[in-house]
Amino acid sequence: MMISSSSSSSSSSCSYSYSSPPPSPLIPATILLLLCLPALFYLAPHILPPPPPPPISFPDELQDLSLFRRATTLESHQTNKPKSRLGSTNSKPKIAFMFLTNTDLHFSPLWERFFTANKSNRHLYTLYVHADPTVNPKIKIPGGVFSEDRFITTAKQTRRGTATLIAAARRLIATALLDNPNNQFFTLVSQYCIPLYSFSYFYETLFQTKTHQVAELRDLKYKSFVQIVSDDPYIWDRYNARGKNVMLPEVRFDQFRMGSQFFTLTRKHSVLVVSDRRLWKKFRLDCIKASSCYPEEHYFPTLLSMEDPNGCSGYTLTHVNWTDSVDGHPHTYYRPEVSKELIYELRRSNFSNGYMFARKFDPGCLEPLMNMADEVIFRD
Ligand SMILES: *[C@@H]1O[C@H](CO)[C@@H](O)[C@H](O)[C@H]1NC(C)=O
Ligand SMILES: *[C@@H]1O[C@H](CO)[C@@H](O)[C@H](O)[C@H]1NC(C)=O
Ligand SMILES: *[C@@H]1O[C@H](CO)[C@@H](O)[C@H](O)[C@H]1NC(C)=O
Repeated sequence: MMISSSSSSSSSSCSYSYSSPPPSPLIPATILLLLCLPALFYLAPHILPPPPPPPISFPDELQDLSLFRRATTLESHQTNKPKSRLGSTNSKPKIAFMFLTNTDLHFSPLWERFFTANKSNRHLYTLYVHADPTVNPKIKIPGGVFSEDRFITTAKQTRRGTATLIAAARRLIATALLDNPNNQFFTLVSQYCIPLYSFSYFYETLFQTKTHQVAELRDLKYKSFVQIVSDDPYIWDRYNARGKNVMLPEVRFDQFRMGSQFFTLTRKHSVLVVSDRRLWKKFRLDCIKASSCYPEEHYFPTLLSMEDPNGCSGYTLTHVNWTDSVDGHPHTYYRPEVSKELIYELRRSNFSNGYMFARKFDPGCLEPLMNMADEVIFRD
């Protein structure tokens, strides 16, 4: 009764709150305000979460889903084909290089030389570029091996600290799966990555030999190169970046992994990555804690270590220098640091394979790197 009568009363009742406040003592209120202000300034960033980055929109998500479906459907048709038919192509396996960028491709001349130095490698690689279409001015198309048709048309905005980086990598993988059945390894690099060896050396390292044909690969056990770490001091914070226990039940804490954003996956694992819906549902959620939010460093290692731990090397082929890292950024190499010795040093690793690539390099390093490309970098 009372509720209905009050709600039906005139709109003036909206201002019911403090229509006649008691006269407040002015001086104590001012002092209180002055005392509170600094505390507020100090506390606000700690209490208030940063504004959430734009989530991946529903239409974008649907478009991705249809791309991923096409890639996995095609794959299941292909693997069900009789072996003789697949083998009749007689083709050599290829490596798909997937460039993820939100700036111009500063090192395209170096990569151009990496791919084209030896003409007999022409049929052994394919290229795909995911260039953030929202960058202004628009990202330049370098030409050469980076021709316009290598820039994928489904590319979308990417933002640090969001699942958009996972989505972009999956878009690249799905595109490369669909584009060419001979793509057997899938290597993700960024615009800040450089090669440390020749293409031939990388190819032989991955396939161990050059004599295989695609049809023969099926029986061989190739591994993906992705770092998988379970004991990092920050991993608990990273696990709870979306809120406590939000990852449950899909990912238990003991299943959660940390690793490299840049990796080389086998075709089998690439299919696995684009067919996943279960983990993506959790990893796509926005973080509530920006300082622990690096979804792309967790999604791939967690998924692969849950599904096929023995099919992964557990280490990456891309050198990153985390010494003195600031705000989640690794050490960036600048022009004066570039030397023959640096290349040799970056190649060294404690794993069965040396590093094949390195990041992060400032665009100013292009000239000294080009000057030593043939004598140092591409001489194995
Ligand atoms: C060029 O590549 C072919 C096949 O990949 C290889 O046999 C040859 O040794 C390479 N040549 C040079 C100069 O590296
Ligand atoms: C890694 O970065 C640090 C500075 O952050 C530098 O002193 C060191 O030489 C770098 N290591 C290598 C192998 O380049
Ligand atoms: C290899 O491992 C040793 C001992 O743990 C370490 O001191 C060294 O820095 C590592 N080297 C590289 C290139 O990671």
